[in-house]
Amino acid sequence: MDFQGKKGLILGVANDHSIAWAIAKRIMEGGGECGFTHLPDRPDDERQRNRRRVSKLTDKQPNAKFLVPMDAQDDEQIASVMQTTKEEFGKIDFLLHSIAFADREDLGRDTVYTSRAGFKLAMDVSVYTLIAATAAAKNADILNEGGAIATMTYFGGEKCVPGYNVMGICKAALEATVRYLAYDMGPQGVRVNALSAGPMKTLAGRAAGVEEMLSLYEHMAPMARNVTHEEVGNTGAFLLHEASNGITGEILHVDGGYHAMGSPGRLLDQIQAAKS
Ligand SMILES: NC(=O)c1ccc[n+]([C@@H]2O[C@H](COP(=O)([O-])OP(=O)(O)OC[C@H]3O[C@@H](n4cnc5c(N)ncnc54)[C@H](O)[C@@H]3O)[C@@H](O)[C@H]2O)c1
Repeated sequence: MDFQGKKGLILGVANDHSIAWAIAKRIMEGGGECGFTHLPDRPDDERQRNRRRVSKLTDKQPNAKFLVPMDAQDDEQIASVMQTTKEEFGKIDFLLHSIAFADREDLGRDTVYTSRAGFKLAMDVSVYTLIAATAAAKNADILNEGGAIATMTYFGGEKCVPGYNVMGICKAALEATVRYLAYDMGPQGVRVNALSAGPMKTLAGRAAGVEEMLSLYEHMAPMARNVTHEEVGNTGAFLLHEASNGITGEILHVDGGYHAMGSPGRLLDQIQAAKS
C-alpha cells in the first residue's frame, strides 16, 4: 500500500506491542508520515516512562514527525494536539484511534457488579474519546476530503464474551458510534470504520484477559490460529488508505474467522473425545 504524500495522526501507541504501532509501522513503510501522541507522564516521574517507551520507537523512524502528550479525557489537550498537527502537517489523510481503558477491578468483576464510576470511566476513555477526537479534528479543519478515521474494537461488543465484561459494553457503544460518525462525516468525504481484532498480547489485551482467549481461538477459529500484529497492521492500514474508499460505518474482523462460528467447531470434537 502506497502512502507516499499521505499524513496522519496515530492515537494509542504505548509500546512496540501496541496495535496502533503495528498499523503505523505499515503506513510508514508505505511512505506515509505520522504524528504520535503518548499518555502524559506524571510530573513527579523524572524518567518520563510513557514518553520514553514511545520515543524509543518513533526516534528510529524518519517518517514519525512528532510526538506529543495527550490525555484523551481532556478536551483541551485533544484540541492542542490538533493544533500541533495543523502546524506540522496542514491537513491530514488519516486518523487512528486505538485507545481503551477500564479499571482492573471493574474488568475483573461480573458485569452485574460494575461500579457507576468505573462504567463512566471506561465509556469515557474507550468510547467518547473517538467522538472527541473526530470533533476536534473537524473543528480544527485538518481532515482532507477522502480521508479516513479508524478505531479498534473486539467481538465482545457483539456477543457476550465472559471476562470482557464492562469493556464489551464499551465496544458495543464504540461500534454504534462508528456508524453514527460515518453518517456525520460522510458529506465531507471522510470515512469512519472499526477493525475488530482477535486477541493480541498487548498491555490492554493482558488487562482484558487475552491469555485465555488465545488458546480458545486456536481451537475454535476457522483458521485454527491467532492473528498476528502484521495482519492487523495491514488491515488497519487498508482502512486508512484510499484502497478502502467506499467502505464506511463498517466493522471489519481480523480474527481468523472466529466471529463467523456458531458452534465451538473443532473444540467440540475435543470435548467429545475427552468424554469417551
Ligand atoms: N489486544 C487485544 O487483544 C485487542 C483486541 C481487539 C481490540 N483491541 C483494542 O485495540 C485498542 C488498542 O489496544 P492495544 O491492545 O494495542 O493495547 P495498548 O495498551 O498498547 O493500547 C491502548 C492505548 O490506550 C491508551 N490510553 C488509555 N487511556 C488513555 C487516555 N486517557 N488518553 C490517551 N490514551 C489512553 C494507552 O496509552 C495505550 O496507548 C484498544 O481499543 C483495545 O480495546 C485490543
